[in-house]
Parts: sequence; structure tokens; C-alpha cells
Amino acid sequence: GSGAAKPRNIDVSPLIDSDGGLIDRSIYTDREIYAQEMRRIFARSWLFLAHETQFKKPGDFFTTFMGEDPVIVSMDKEKKIRVYLNSCRHRGVRLCRADAGATKMFTCTYHGWSFDLAGALQSVPNETAYPDTFKKENWSLIEVPRVETYKGLIFGNWDKNADSLEDNLGDMKYYMDAMLDRDPEGTEVVGGVMKWELEGNWKLAAEQFATDWYHVNMSHASALMVLSPTGKGPKADIAATPGRQHGSENGHGAGFPTHPKSRFDAKMVHDYYDYDFLRERLGDDAVEGPMTTGHATVFPNFSYLPVNGSIRVWHPKGPDKIEVWAWILVDKSMPQDVKDAQRLYNLRTFGPSGIFEADDGENWSEIQAISGGFVTNSVPLNFQMGIGSEREDGTYPGQTSELYSDAAGRAFYRHWAKVMNTPAWHETN
Ligand code: FES
Ligand code: FE
Repeated sequence: GSGAAKPRNIDVSPLIDSDGGLIDRSIYTDREIYAQEMRRIFARSWLFLAHETQFKKPGDFFTTFMGEDPVIVSMDKEKKIRVYLNSCRHRGVRLCRADAGATKMFTCTYHGWSFDLAGALQSVPNETAYPDTFKKENWSLIEVPRVETYKGLIFGNWDKNADSLEDNLGDMKYYMDAMLDRDPEGTEVVGGVMKWELEGNWKLAAEQFATDWYHVNMSHASALMVLSPTGKGPKADIAATPGRQHGSENGHGAGFPTHPKSRFDAKMVHDYYDYDFLRERLGDDAVEGPMTTGHATVFPNFSYLPVNGSIRVWHPKGPDKIEVWAWILVDKSMPQDVKDAQRLYNLRTFGPSGIFEADDGENWSEIQAISGGFVTNSVPLNFQMGIGSEREDGTYPGQTSELYSDAAGRAFYRHWAKVMNTPAWHETN
């Protein structure tokens, strides 16, 4: 039992008018709302942890966060991925300080308690000094009860009764497959994990990747100019781009052009693919839709860009700070030079100093920087684009709207509000 004082829960429904497309700005700044997100969103949602190819043999581990809770993701002796709270059971020091590595035992640097790959407390220095009532088996690492994977992506959930990962993803699986399932061998990550900090609330990034094609032409005008073969930029093309946007009832979102020119910009990658094979494998609609230069978010804070092979987590670090962790995904069957081309293209566009990435971070920090003002904070934000355009179009699964739309943003916040207003597993008996 925790001795923590019972937290006050805020009813967020007055802050989110998802049908009318109005969002109260305080959801990005309020400290109590942020604390409630830790309890009711991050302690009960499926959170992306790592990619399967980061673990090859027993003892391989990777440390990350679920919300602000630090966790160790590791492969046990039976080659099962297990996830533990990265905090020593004795006095709570961070148990494993390495970003990644291989070990037989996690030994605490403070007093030397050692935990094995199954999370069991194996050795305690000066154990005889403890009373007989002290039993090592009562002091195992705290384990994340649910760990499930979808096509190489490992997710964890603190709620042991949560719906399965696949049920939670639902229709989103179809959109994810356009990145995860092009290759029968699957995907792998290359080049380590890139990490950088941004000023801004985590939802600004998550929501943009779910719903915001609208900013591309304006925010990325100069980057598009650089990439344009004519030097004039494909502005007109982009502004007129047809496409679809999917918003799910579980808060996930994906947008993508349905435009023949919007495909793998890295020539080597483009030339590598056999489009007839892909059409056969994934269907024409996937090849002409979600496989283009789309964007997507799996609620709450995992996003990806299928063309760049960028997968990332927006780690919340307080209401106004994000730590971005980004991996580069490639198809396992790609020859090495194509993998390299994909990695370099990723770095040029959406790496920490990529020409697109910098534009996005700038916008979010500019929203956040002025959100503390009282009057500023009392004026709602507009998410009304495409209201009423959501429908089942018979082509793409679930509800979709036009590409230029806030539909997935409204779906994201509708789900956010629902989860924020529903007691979590740790609040009920
Ligand atoms: Fe880990 Fe004391 S805090 S052994
Ligand atoms: Fe962008």
C-alpha cells in the first residue's frame, strides 16, 4: 500500500470540446493536469518501449521511461522480454544507469543489492544484519505486468487488465503495416537511439503527428525548397495534395497523401522497392496511401513517419518539456547500402538537426513559451478543420476524413479526456 496522499482528480470535460473542435490551452501547462496524466494516462496505456532487434541474447537490456517512471527492458534466460521499474527496492536509487548493454545481474551502486534477470533479489550484503522477518523473495523488482509486441515493436502497460495491445491498436494496425510489414522478414533498428530535448508539452508533438498535415506547406516551406529538384519547391503540389486522415476511438491517428509523387524520397530506397510485390502484399490502397509520406501517432506518445523510418517517443518531462527518443527503422532484407541510404535520409530530414525536425520543435516551443499568461491561457485553440467530414469510406479501415483536417486531433483529445476522467486500476479495488 502506498502512503501517498489521495490526489485530487480534475474533471477535464470542460476543457475539451472535441465535437466542436475547441481545446483549452491549460491542458498544456497545468501541473495538476500533468500529474493526473501520469496517473491516468501513462500508468494505464500501452507505451512503446523498444524494438525487438535491440535484444539478441539473455541479459541484453535497454533503459527507458513509461511516462516519468524509469524502466529496464531486458531479455531473461528464457529469452522473454521483461520490464522492471528501474528503482532499487532498498532505498530507491536508480538501479541501472546505462542506456543499454548486457549483464547477468543488476547490482545497485548504493549498498549493493543484486537482482537477477527475473527481477529476483539474489544477494544482499550483510544479510545477517536483517531480522528473520526479512525475506528476499518479498523484495523483487517491480515488474510491468503486461508486455506485448506488434511486428517488432515492444509495448508495456502497467494495467494488468488492459485490453490486449492488438485490440487497442485495432484499425491502426493496417496503417502501421505500411511501415512494419513491407518486408516478410520484418524490420530492424539501425544506428542507436537519438535523444534530444524540446520545450513544449508532450501532447503538442503527439497530436501534430496524429493530425497535422496542414502545417507542412508553411512550416516546412524552406526545407521543401531545399529538397525540390527545381529549387522552387513542390509547394503547389503539396497544397493540393489529396489524402486521407484516420482518427481512432482509442486516440490513435494517421494522415497520408494519396499522391503518386509522395513516396520514398531517398532514390536508393525508392529504387529498392518492388511496387508490384508491395501491392500484392499490402494491397493497392496501402501502397497509394499509408505508405506515402504520412505521419502517425499511437496514443499516447509513440509516433512514426513511414517514409523516413522514423519511430519516436515523446517522453514527458514536466508539463513544458519533452525528451524525444528516436529510432531509425529499416527493412531487414534491405542490402546494407540501402539501409545506409535510409539512415542518412532520415538524419537529413528528421534527425535531431534534420531540416524538417527543427521546424516542428520551433512551433511547439513557441506555443508553450507564451502559454503561462492568464489571458493567453483562457483563449481556446481551434481544431475545427474538417468537422463532420469523418466517415467510413469503404477503402481505408475505420473512420477517415480528408487529409486537411483536425479529425485525428479531435479523436486524440476525445480519448485523452475520456481516459483522464476514468479512474485507473490503481484507484479501484
Ligand atoms: Fe539499492 Fe541500497 S538503494 S542497495
Ligand atoms: Fe512537421
